[in-house]
Amino acid sequence: MVTYDFSGQVAFVTGAAHGQGRSHAVKYAENGADVVVTDICANVDTNPYELGTREELDETASMVEDEGQEALAIEMDVREEAEVRAAVEEALDEFGRIDMLANNAGIFNSAEMVQLPEQQWDDMIDTNLKGVWLCSKHVGKHFIERGGGGKIVSTSSTAGLVGTLLSGHYSATKWGVRGLTKTLALELAEYDVNVNCVCPTGVDTPMIEGYVEHYGEEMLGEIAELTGPFNLFNPEDAMISPEYISEAYMWLSSDAARYVTGIELPVDAGYTAK
Ligand SMILES: NC(=O)c1ccc[n+]([C@@H]2O[C@H](COP(=O)([O-])OP(=O)(O)OC[C@H]3O[C@@H](n4cnc5c(N)ncnc54)[C@H](O)[C@@H]3O)[C@@H](O)[C@H]2O)c1
Repeated sequence: MVTYDFSGQVAFVTGAAHGQGRSHAVKYAENGADVVVTDICANVDTNPYELGTREELDETASMVEDEGQEALAIEMDVREEAEVRAAVEEALDEFGRIDMLANNAGIFNSAEMVQLPEQQWDDMIDTNLKGVWLCSKHVGKHFIERGGGGKIVSTSSTAGLVGTLLSGHYSATKWGVRGLTKTLALELAEYDVNVNCVCPTGVDTPMIEGYVEHYGEEMLGEIAELTGPFNLFNPEDAMISPEYISEAYMWLSSDAARYVTGIELPVDAGYTAK
């Protein structure tokens, strides 16, 4: 895998208790950054599987420290502006700077759009879309106030590139992340801030485990039947490992991608090539 030099820099990662967020946090540390690891550490009522826990968040912090970097673990719900503002302030008190924001936190659930309860829609939009805006707002302010420079990477999805059967509310958030990414890229370019997003195909994390446990394997099968295999390289074992999403995050957080801004980068094993 590719290595970068993020020494002296600080990454702020949302949804870092497990799954892709943990992978990104550890990868930032492997590349020399100190890392603020944040997570809701609680469940969202309308989401049917377990989210990250405080113990898991602390374990991620330990994994960052095992790489020889400093870690700060903060419980923070990306839906709540007061919590996001306070977490950014705490990170700045501790480290004096944030250089890279990883907007990774998210939830995934399903219902037919004509049946979807309003609260389930609201929780999805608030977590996956409003949360990306709130974190970008408060970290973006810091980037501007310190005189510019910074990277924002957010997680969209292949669901933000195509329609998603039975998860229209999820798809709407992930298309929304792309739109927000482009606007932030336009607004923050004059401050030397790069803003991009990554669109993963199915990734092997507690999200998919929990989803399959609740809805059954056949739900993913139904989606794949309509849209084609999630992974052209290995249609049988469709999920890819989180580290490949982290690789995209690292590149987009680095100056190797100096002139890349406002894009959505599919890491989708060909899912949207059709
Ligand atoms: N796993 C996949 O197949 C897949 C595919 C494409 C995109 N994604 C996206 O990747 C991102 C990471 O997903 P994952 O697969 O690691 O999921 P995951 O469920 O394994 O981890 C998500 C983390 O986000 C946290 N979180 C959820 N709501 C939060 C909130 N309101 N505030 C703060 N933290 C919150 C959870 O506690 C959890 O630790 C999500 O945005 C997801 O939509 C996942």
